[in-house]
Amino acid sequence: PRVVKLAVIPGDGIGPEVIAEAERVLDAATAGTDVTFDKTRFALGAARYLETGDTLTDEDLAAITSHDAILLGAVGGIPGDVRLKDANIERGLLLKLRFELDHYVNLRPSKLYEGAPGPLASPGDVDFVVVREGTEGPYVGNGGAIRRGTPHEVANETSVNTAFGVERVVRYAFELAERRSKRLTLVHKTNVLVNAGSLWKRIVDTVAVEHPGVDVDYLHVDAATIFLVTNPGRFDVIVTDNLFGDILTDLAGAVTGGIGLAASGNINPDGVFPSMFEPVHGSAPDIAGQQKADPTAAILSIALMLDHLGLSAESARVAQAVEQDIAGRGTASRTTTQIGDDIVARVQA
Ligand code: NAD
Ligand code: IPM
Ligand code: MN
Repeated sequence: PRVVKLAVIPGDGIGPEVIAEAERVLDAATAGTDVTFDKTRFALGAARYLETGDTLTDEDLAAITSHDAILLGAVGGIPGDVRLKDANIERGLLLKLRFELDHYVNLRPSKLYEGAPGPLASPGDVDFVVVREGTEGPYVGNGGAIRRGTPHEVANETSVNTAFGVERVVRYAFELAERRSKRLTLVHKTNVLVNAGSLWKRIVDTVAVEHPGVDVDYLHVDAATIFLVTNPGRFDVIVTDNLFGDILTDLAGAVTGGIGLAASGNINPDGVFPSMFEPVHGSAPDIAGQQKADPTAAILSIALMLDHLGLSAESARVAQAVEQDIAGRGTASRTTTQIGDDIVARVQA
């Protein structure tokens, strides 16, 4: 028997609602197998900050790091809450985990399932993965401001791109493309961001030589948004930096049936640190506490986690249950728990 130590961070807003369903699906998918998940719950997020003033203590981080994997709902408080004015939960918790645990691959698959309510009239066959760099770019927080609040305020954000950091994520993307349809698209803005753009382009060109079977393509990020809407079927693996990847994956979610279906993995491919699985969406304060959130993104994040842990049969059971649920969902409106119930029943069938 195998025991997987799982850290669960439900977080804020709809986070706890969708994680409750994801946990039920995980339990159903592993019942009767020889793997069990030993879960530890971490109460982190805006609620914890308001209670204690802590975002992520060293003790929290050490405890989370001692697990085999992490499941996260979403973090972020109510917009405009003055008590959160000095907090930056997103940076202090979510990004801190991604950086400290060296989640350099932010894996965000987009598949248009049959029956999914997409906005496109004839989308064609859509099945691609965005490999978003997770530890660098403008996210590092290496900026600064002076003369704050004056007419001469200067505000800088620096995008950090290292040869080491770009090469490792590009190599991962090529290896993924080799296992998929062997098409890789670099998305950047090399016409304007000439320094970072040149580094990304040269590294892609260099690694491409080792993968002669992979078709390599380049798009500026603005043009990539056009094709994500007009011809999303052209993509297989997209590799891009942290910020472009953030923006493209919300768009990709919208195009493939809504952000409520978009799952992600923050992967440390080296296996030194636990990887973290979470829906692409946030805490959705506009619908929180109303049982309106679709838990499918969180449930598909379970499938990604199971696959990452080498539990491919269990992963396939979850993915298949979701696929069937989407195919059969029609236009009936269901609560978060009802969607969870339906998917659990399909996993058990
Ligand atoms: P959001 O993803 O929370 O919401 C955007 C829109 O999508 C909202 O209308 C929301 O109701 C809808 N939506 C999101 N998830 C849904 C679901 N499962 N089912 C149905 N509808 C869903 O983005 P936002 O409003 O920009 O951010 C809200 C807060 O979440 C902010 O504090 C932000 O920083 C944070 N955030 C956290 C994460 C994370 O923890 N990984 C990710 C994104 C945003
Ligand atoms: C996401 C979120 C985060 C990001 C925020 C909340 C820091 O939007 O996971 O996509 O920008 O990476
Ligand atoms: Mn985002």
